[in-house]
Amino acid sequence: MSPATIAAIRGARHVAVLTGAGISAESGIPTFRDALTGWWARFRPEDLATPEAFQRDPDLVWRWYRERRLRLRDVMPNPGHYALAELARRVPSLTLVTQNVDGLHARAGSADVIELHGNLARVKCFDQGHPAPDFPDTDAVPRCALCGSPLRPDVVWFGELLPADALRRAQAAAGDCDVFLSVGTSNLVEPAASLPWIATRRGVTVMIVNPSATGQSSGPNIHHLAGPAGRVLPELLREAWPG
Ligand code: OAD
Repeated sequence: MSPATIAAIRGARHVAVLTGAGISAESGIPTFRDALTGWWARFRPEDLATPEAFQRDPDLVWRWYRERRLRLRDVMPNPGHYALAELARRVPSLTLVTQNVDGLHARAGSADVIELHGNLARVKCFDQGHPAPDFPDTDAVPRCALCGSPLRPDVVWFGELLPADALRRAQAAAGDCDVFLSVGTSNLVEPAASLPWIATRRGVTVMIVNPSATGQSSGPNIHHLAGPAGRVLPELLREAWPG
């Protein structure tokens, strides 16, 4: 890696990190738009990940998310997740923001993860948003114990607003950091896609960890660390802190 990249991460006061589905790819979780494999191949995410889809066919949507939730039991964080947990121990301040709903950052030891799009392991009711910590994990859609409305995954669907506090904290971190690390995201979905721009416009160093440069910004302060996160992030830490 370039001396400038190593110097920037070593000397960082506050690193803001935004991750996307790419960081979980090496854990065996298909990136978002590949997730519809097998029987689900006939659907588009937009056919399943919306309130209208749920109202149209709650059982179908519930089953899709249940299958993804159950699949999480068989996957583990990968070296990319662990490297970010280690990075938080190496720099004075690190804010980890994720678009992922798989909970793998927390399982790798990262604390206070800002989950912009919710978490597959959490469930709430459709009508009132009542949390449902204990729900019968069956194929049939369970009902809320408080209001009787159908339960749904606590994830952000297309057309829904992000949790306001999570978004505010993520934007504040992008506005304060001196290094912004974008890992495994196609930068296609707002408002998360604007976070790197908040940092770029401030002239701080932006590092992009992604095998592909497609859709990624470029410029004097932007370092593209091309490759899979599970290899690049541990390499970045080894080179920045050889001891
Ligand atoms: P995408 O599937 O759009 O993009 C995945 C990115 O990861 C691509 O840029 C890949 O090149 C990159 N990638 C693949 N393998 C990688 C690896 N091993 N290491 C690093 N990068 C890798 O996923 P997201 O950008 O996360 O929103 O999608 C953003 C949002 O779009 C999702 O959170 C979801 C979807 O609509 C909601 O569910 C609200």
